[in-house]
This record gives sequence, C-alpha cells and structure tokens, in this order.
Amino acid sequence: MAIRPIICLPDPRLRLVSKPVAKVDEGVRALMDDMLETMYDAPGVGLAAIQIAESTRVVVIDTAKKDDPPTPLFFVNPVITWSSEEKSTHEEGCLSIPDYYEEIERPARVRVRFLDRDGNQQEMDTEGLLATCIQHEIDHLNGVLFIDYLSRLKRERAIKKFAKAAKRSADDPDDDRPKMGGPRE
Ligand code: NI
Repeated sequence: MAIRPIICLPDPRLRLVSKPVAKVDEGVRALMDDMLETMYDAPGVGLAAIQIAESTRVVVIDTAKKDDPPTPLFFVNPVITWSSEEKSTHEEGCLSIPDYYEEIERPARVRVRFLDRDGNQQEMDTEGLLATCIQHEIDHLNGVLFIDYLSRLKRERAIKKFAKAAKRSADDPDDDRPKMGGPRE
C-alpha cells in the first residue's frame, strides 16, 4: 500500500470521464488499497480513483465515525439504479477542493449497483452520509464536482480562488502565505 498524491482543482484531469474496469484483478485491488490508505491519511470519507490521477471507475468510502472500527467499502463501476424523490442537504467538501465546504442538496436515498472487491455484482441501498458520499464519488467518475451544483457566481468564485492559489505556489515556491490543503479547522 502507498499514499499517493491527490490532485486538486484546477487540475483538468478532475474533469475526465473515467473508464469502466473490465475485470477486478490484483491490479485493481492494489489500486483500492492505495486509495484507502490515501483517503485515511488525508483524512476523508470517500475517494474516487481520478483523485489520485487514475482514470478508472473505482471508489472507496468509509463513513465510520472517528472512534468506531473502520468499515471500508469498495465500489467498482458503480451505477445509481434508483434515487428517492425526497432530498436532503449535507455540507460537502472534497479532498480535491481543500478547505472549501458548501451545503449541497441531493436525493436522500439511492440504490447503487457495483462490483465488489472480489468482482461480484452487488446492490446496496444507502441513506444519510453514505448516500451523499456515493453520489459525490460517482460524480467524480463522470468529471463532475460538487461545486457544479452551486450558483454560477459561487462556483466561479471558488474556481478563481483555487486557480490563484495554484498560480501563487507555482510562481513562488517559498511563498509562506497560507495555502489550500491543510486539515479542516
Ligand atoms: Ni470529492
């Protein structure tokens, strides 16, 4: 297992549509292990492969509370097969958009079909944080970010902020002004 670098806004790879996995083999399981270690290290509750620059339809999630035992979930080629009419709003963040949080409304419950770590097809009904998280991560596989649900003004403001921060660190690597990417306060 290895901790891999997480790519951040405005990296254009975040807009790629990831390719389906043909077979869940040792290579895919090794990728899942790296993703899980990277996610726990960040720390975060979900990670899509494209966030470590692998354009493949793999997601890892663990929504267990801090003091509870870990409950890692692995999703290969996940597809939402049903969404509730009922909506819910959660504050979302993203490891690729550090230190930025906004309330996002999504279906409160979704059913997801996917291949598990052993390549077996599964279907899972989700609600609460897990439902939000799986929708957020599947969006990543389609090149969609949670800021896309914001008003145009808010979204453009966020994109500009991250573009500026990226330029600042590229122009001056010794710049010691606060940078994006620290843990949440
Ligand atoms: Ni994200």
